[in-house]
Amino acid sequence: VKGLVIHVEGDHASDWVLPFAEHLPDWDVRWSDGFAQEDADCVEAAVVWQPPAGFLGHFHNLRTIVSVSAGLDHLKGDPSCPTNVRLIRRMDPLSTRAMAEFVLMQVLMQHRLLVTFFAERARRVWAPRAVGPLSSRRVGVLGLGPMGLASAELLQAMGCSVTAWSRSSKDDAPVPFVCGFERLDAFLGSVDTLVNLLPSRPETCNLLSEARLSLLPVGSTIVNVGRGDVLDQRALLRLLDSGHLAAAALDVLPQEPPSPSDPVWEHPKIILTPHVASLPDPAAFGAWVATTL
Ligand SMILES: NC(=O)c1ccc[n+]([C@@H]2O[C@H](COP(=O)([O-])OP(=O)(O)OC[C@H]3O[C@@H](n4cnc5c(N)ncnc54)[C@H](OP(=O)(O)O)[C@@H]3O)[C@@H](O)[C@H]2O)c1
Repeated sequence: VKGLVIHVEGDHASDWVLPFAEHLPDWDVRWSDGFAQEDADCVEAAVVWQPPAGFLGHFHNLRTIVSVSAGLDHLKGDPSCPTNVRLIRRMDPLSTRAMAEFVLMQVLMQHRLLVTFFAERARRVWAPRAVGPLSSRRVGVLGLGPMGLASAELLQAMGCSVTAWSRSSKDDAPVPFVCGFERLDAFLGSVDTLVNLLPSRPETCNLLSEARLSLLPVGSTIVNVGRGDVLDQRALLRLLDSGHLAAAALDVLPQEPPSPSDPVWEHPKIILTPHVASLPDPAAFGAWVATTL
C-alpha cells in the first residue's frame, strides 16, 4: 500500500487524516508522526504546510509533494525537501473563489468607508457621507496567477473598473492588464485601490517600497493578500498616518503573527486578519488531491 503523510503546521490530525482517507481509499494516510522509521519507505506522497526542517528527508521514496498553499515559500523551512519530485500546489477552484470573495469584501469595505466609520464609532462620531458608485473605483490587481485572475474577474463582474499588472504578458486574460516592471510605476499612479496578489520571491521582496507606495493617488487604499514581504510595512504605516493612504487591509505580514508591540494590531486605518483569505477546507482539498495523485 502506498503511504501518504500529512503535516499541516498548527492543525490537528483529526481535521485532515479522515477527510483525506475517505477520498484516497487506496492510500495509507497518516499524520506527520504516524509512520515509524521502518514504514517510512512506503510513503510516496506528502501533503504539507510549513514542514519542519528535516521532515521530508525521512521519506526516501517520495514521488509527490502537495503544498497546502498556493505559495511554495513555506517549503524553504525544510532544507531536506527533495527537488526531484512532482510538486503540486493547492489550486482547486474553491480556493481561488474563496480568495476572490475575500478580496471583494475588503474592496467593498474600503469603498464604503467602513474602516473610517468603525474608527469614528469608537470616538462616538456620527458623520455620514456619500461615496460614488463602485464603477468609479479603479482597482489595480498586482499579479495575474490563479488567485489574482479570479479576484480581478469577480471585481470586474461586480462593476469595479479593474486593471491588472503582471510581470509577463497574458494573451488570453479576461481583464485589462499592463505588464512589465517598466510599467509598474505608471500603473500604481492610476489606481484607487491596490490589491497585492504577488508571491514572495527575491524579485518581489519590498517591491512596494516607500517610493512606489507614494505613487498611489492621495486617498487610495491597499489590500495585501499576497505575501507580507512584498510591502514595506513601515512605509505603509507612515503613509496611513500622513493621510496619503486612507486604509489598508492586511491578511499577510512580514512577520506572522506580528509582535505584541506591532502597531498593526491597533491601527485605526488597518483591517487585520490572520492569513485567512483562502484557507483550505480539508475535505474539499482531499477530494481535489485525489483527482491529481
Ligand atoms: N492570504 C492567503 O490566504 C493566501 C492564500 C493563497 C495564496 N496566497 C498568496 O497569493 C499568491 C498568488 O497566488 P497565485 O496562485 O495567484 O499566483 P502565483 O503563481 O503565486 O503568482 C503569480 C503571479 O506572480 C507573478 N510572479 C511570480 N514570480 C514573480 C517574480 N519573481 N517577480 C514578479 N512577479 C512574479 C507572476 O508573474 P508572471 O506574470 O510572469 O506569470 C504572476 O503574475 C501566492 O503566491 C500566495 O503568496 C495567499
